[in-house]
This record gives sequence, C-alpha cells and structure tokens, in this order.
Amino acid sequence: KRLKHLIHTLPKAELHLHIEGSLEPQLMWDLAQKHNIALPFANVEAIQSAYQFENLQNFLDLYYQGADVLRDEDDFFALMWAYLCKCYEQNIVHTEIMFDPQTHTQRGIDYAVFMPGFARAIQKAKAEFGMSVYLILSFLRHLSELSALEALADARPYYSMITAVGLDSSELGNPPSKFTHVFAQAKELGFKLVAHAGEEGPPEYVWEALELLRVDRIDHGVRSIEDSSLMAYLKEQQIPLTVCPLSNLKLRVVNEMSQHNIIQLLDDGLLVTVNSDDPSYFGGYLDDNFHALAHHLSLSEQALAQLVCNSFTASFLPESQKQHWL
Ligand code: ADE
Ligand code: ZN
Repeated sequence: KRLKHLIHTLPKAELHLHIEGSLEPQLMWDLAQKHNIALPFANVEAIQSAYQFENLQNFLDLYYQGADVLRDEDDFFALMWAYLCKCYEQNIVHTEIMFDPQTHTQRGIDYAVFMPGFARAIQKAKAEFGMSVYLILSFLRHLSELSALEALADARPYYSMITAVGLDSSELGNPPSKFTHVFAQAKELGFKLVAHAGEEGPPEYVWEALELLRVDRIDHGVRSIEDSSLMAYLKEQQIPLTVCPLSNLKLRVVNEMSQHNIIQLLDDGLLVTVNSDDPSYFGGYLDDNFHALAHHLSLSEQALAQLVCNSFTASFLPESQKQHWL
C-alpha cells in the first residue's frame, strides 16, 4: 500500500520509451477510421488481444503495422500528447522519448509532418504540466547504415529539437558494429548516444555499443549479467542500463517476472533504471512496471528510491537540473 503510494507520488524520469509503442488500440482504431485504412482487426478489443508475443521480431511486425495509421501532423500530435498526459498522471517530470523516423519516411511521411506534430504536443506539455521532454532519434538496425546516415542528414532542420540518437529494432544479426560511421557522425554533431543491446542479443553486442559506438547509455542490457568482466565495467563506469521489466516479460526475454534480474543488477551496483519501452503493447506504463517489481520481486522502499534517483542520474538533463530532483 505504502509502496504503491510512493511509486505513484515520487517524481520520476522515464528514459526508454518508443513513442510509436505508446499508440493505444483505441487511437489506432480512430486513426484508421479517419484515414480509411483497413485494419486486420474487427474491433478495438481484437487489437488488444492480438498483443501476445513469442519474441522481439514477432512484436516488431505488429508494431510497424500499427504505426501505419499515423499519417498527418495531427496524428503525431495526438500520439505524443496522449503519452505526455500519461506522464503527468504518473508524476513523470522528465522524459526522453525515442522516435523511429525511418518507420515513417519509408512510407512517404517525412520529418516535416511528424516533427511539427511532436513539437506542438511537447510545447503544450511544457506549458501546462511544466515537464521537460527530450527526443532521441532512433535508427532501425534491420535497415542499412546508409539508410541511417540519410535519416540523420534529413533530420538536419530539427537538430535543435533532438538530444540523442539511438539504435533499435531487430537485434540478433544486426550488431552495433554495423553502425559505427553514423554514430561517429552523430557524436561529432554533438548528440548524446544510446543503443539497444543485450535485450535478445549477447553481451558482445553491449561491448560493441560501448567500445565501437561509444554510447552514453545501454537500452535493456539485461544479458550483461552473463559476462562478469562486462558487469565489472558497467559498474565501474556507472554506465546506465534502461531496463524494461514488462517488455522483457512480454517478449519472453524472461519467463517469469519473479526471475527478472533487475534487482540483482541494482544490488551489484549497476546504474539501472525502470522504463516502459512500448507501454501500449506490453500491458503497462511506468507505474505498472514498478508495480510488477513490487509484486514479484519484493521491491524494497530503498530499492525503489534508488531506481527513481537513478532515473535522473542517468538522464541527459544538465547537472543543475538533476540535482534539483535528487
Ligand atoms: N522498438 C520498439 N521497442 C523495441 C524493443 N524493445 N527492442 C528493440 N526495438 C524496439
Ligand atoms: Zn526499446
């Protein structure tokens, strides 16, 4: 009870959230109606019940299909605004949001459509809720590095809106080493760097993200536990891991929430944070992820406080603003 109250009331930061993964079935349905798009579902409930996954790829197929209903600036505004309202409800005071430009540009929707939609929602949330919002441009790793270089170049008019670049989509077979040039270029441009690694992929991919891409944070990284020298490095360097418990359960990275290693990673002294990844698809927003840990992993108040502090420490906020929340 008291823990649940604390989970809700503590000011929190969220650092691993794909905006396309916050598309709720109802909004997907409404946008399909608006644009006369035929969905392979009979109703909103049928969309919801299709969200049962065997692995990452299986989820990604549905996630890219779902994103196809996003067509005009108002759609991207509605998507972003809905998520920022969820943040406000959960006392998330700072969020760093990933978006996948290639998912949209590949189907003929360009930056000039989605960026102004995002910008309008972010301005409104800043004004009405006083929250801070950063954007992370994420490259799709199943596509070529050339495509990622194009995505980075095409974002040029919007660089001032973007804090970091990231790497997501199908991990196995698409190692970080495939993207060394585009990450070097992004670093040169002054962006912070993150990459998904060690979700389904092996610890070697985490090493590559650190040593070849020079990332500031690892998204997921839960498989790092299989490599003791990597664990020592992550601890010593205090490299943040943005862990997503419900995502790991839904995508069968773990079989049971009770077997999740997040508390062990925390107890080992790593800088881990809790995040929702794709809340609409994985059955819960940030609060629900904390509740799952409280339920299945006997989360202590101290561990909760540490995880919440870590969310600010691991953020890209300037030092002075971090201190304000710590
Ligand atoms: N894109 C959206 N969610 C993802 C995840 N959990 N892993 C990789 N790519 C993603
Ligand atoms: Zn993710």
